Amino acid sequence: MTDSGDGASAPTSLDTTKSKAYGDFLHLDQLLNIQHRFNGAHDELLFVVIHQTSELWFKVILHEARAAVANIRKDDLRTAFKMIARITRIQAQLSQAWEVLGTMTPNDYLAFRDELGDSSGFQSYQYRMFEFMLGDRQAANFAPHQHHPHIADEINGILAAPSLYDEAIALLHRNGFAIAPSQLERDWSKRYQRHPSVHDAWQAVYRENTRHWELYEFAEKLADLEDAFQNWRFRHMRTVQRIIGEKRGTGGSSGVSYLKRALEREFFPEIIDIRSTL
Ligand code: HEM
Repeated sequence: MTDSGDGASAPTSLDTTKSKAYGDFLHLDQLLNIQHRFNGAHDELLFVVIHQTSELWFKVILHEARAAVANIRKDDLRTAFKMIARITRIQAQLSQAWEVLGTMTPNDYLAFRDELGDSSGFQSYQYRMFEFMLGDRQAANFAPHQHHPHIADEINGILAAPSLYDEAIALLHRNGFAIAPSQLERDWSKRYQRHPSVHDAWQAVYRENTRHWELYEFAEKLADLEDAFQNWRFRHMRTVQRIIGEKRGTGGSSGVSYLKRALEREFFPEIIDIRSTL
């Protein structure tokens, strides 16, 4: 350290053993050498980095989501709230990334588009795990991963257990709300279907919010999370529209119209529904 005289001191990098520590700890040699380029087009680097950083954030999100579910299961909502809030902020950060990608023109993208072949974010298994963990479970979205045993095992593990929303419903039950047995024990791999008992329970929480404050706060945290996820989907769709218009996606979908439809897929349906009946 060198003292500047005002009490603030800057680190010195004279000690070469220490100056290596940062790069070693972060494995920078590896990290900064995996941005492989396809054909040398200028915008490839941005394209690769934005996907890689998104995947790193998905990794953190999954770590937080797993812990949040475990904490809800043991009724430790305060700890789960912190984790859900963090996921929501990471989602906001990911949505901000579309601003950067929006600087890529159709021409910039076309300069390397053919090199992508049929690879697409549609095949992002971490993204799919995130959707599945929250509760948006669509069997068709598992298809691209079932031929990769270690990924398929992990996804099957997620699908065999209740989602974050299923855990929220079980929590309502533990707090004395009359939830239909069909919602407490079911085939978790199947997509969640709205149920009147769940609607009534959330409605009761909101109607007497001061009495059920923690559950009310929990529901609002889930609403934040749903909002943040939908914002990401919306910004993705708009950015894609700006770059490829109505062309088909590299993954083979109809492109923007597919992404618009994805916006209709919900995570915590009754929590949004009850706003119309309060
Ligand atoms: C030039 C930039 C991009 C374009 C043109 C683009 C285009 C598309 C299109 C057309 C789809 C629909 C599936 C298909 O046919 O391929 C899709 C899906 C997807 N993309 Fe992108 N994308 C871009 C950037 C990104 C980035 C930076 C991420 C971040 C990880 C991402 C993640 C995803 C995910 C997760 C899906 C699946 C969505 C779902 O199934 O609901 N994309 N993308």
